[in-house]
Amino acid sequence: MSEDQGQEHDDAMVTLLEAVWGDGFLSPGGPDEIRKIVDGIDFTGKNVLDIGCGTGGIGLFLSEQYEPGSFTGIDVDSGLIARANAEGERRGLQKTASFICVEPGPLPFDADTFDVVFSKDAMIHIPEKESLFQEIFRVLKPGGLVAACDWMSSTDGPFSPELKAYIALEDLGFGMASPERYRNAMVAAGLTDITMTDRNPWYREKVAHECDALSGPLYEGLVQEVGQEFVDHSVDIWRALKVVVDSGELRPTHMRARKP
Ligand SMILES: C[S@@+](CC[C@H](N)C(=O)[O-])C[C@H]1O[C@@H](n2cnc3c(N)ncnc32)[C@H](O)[C@@H]1O
Repeated sequence: MSEDQGQEHDDAMVTLLEAVWGDGFLSPGGPDEIRKIVDGIDFTGKNVLDIGCGTGGIGLFLSEQYEPGSFTGIDVDSGLIARANAEGERRGLQKTASFICVEPGPLPFDADTFDVVFSKDAMIHIPEKESLFQEIFRVLKPGGLVAACDWMSSTDGPFSPELKAYIALEDLGFGMASPERYRNAMVAAGLTDITMTDRNPWYREKVAHECDALSGPLYEGLVQEVGQEFVDHSVDIWRALKVVVDSGELRPTHMRARKP
């Protein structure tokens, strides 16, 4: 796998993202969206991998509510991993949930290790979807499931000036790709029973509220915590995000697949 190095999330960024998206969540939707991504999957006693676990809120939620045998979150950002493990200990979940800092590249696990590979809005940082899904296939046990979501682009390019402007503002080294590219990468890796669910209509409503909250009720408090320049820049990012969600070019999409 070759991918960018992700992004070191500083404290200000985590504070702002969690203010908009909820404690422990560096992506939109909170527990309701997680329930939809994993709907119908029996986690009891299963080994679960979360690629790009951030501050661990999803892993801790799933560990508390879905009783996996083990939950392993991986991320390239050591600061986020430290936060995730500290919160896991605080909630007494350290026996089930562990969070590990990894290098970008091949997944550091043996073949046939996990029953479920989960990921939320992190694959966008891994440009080579083909090698990513080969690795996911390798670490899944036969019969194992992929249950994930990512921010996809409606096409593989060329991107509109608006999407290019948003990506430049985020400065996160995005490797956006279309649902077709993800599907083809899953098929090429050997995954079957692939389903994809477009969440753009849902996020279109939500992003408008996020913009309003950031420039309204959340604004003053965040300025006190992280400074006006950072909050103003984040408001600009959110407005640019809203444009490409409204146009349909940015499409959060759920994915399901199975290793035969
Ligand atoms: C938008 S955040 C989502 C975090 C978490 N999944 C959530 O929804 O709260 C994307 C995460 O992917 C991580 N990331 C970036 N590149 C990665 C890579 N190659 N492997 C694993 N994680 C990566 C980032 O550090 C970041 O924590």
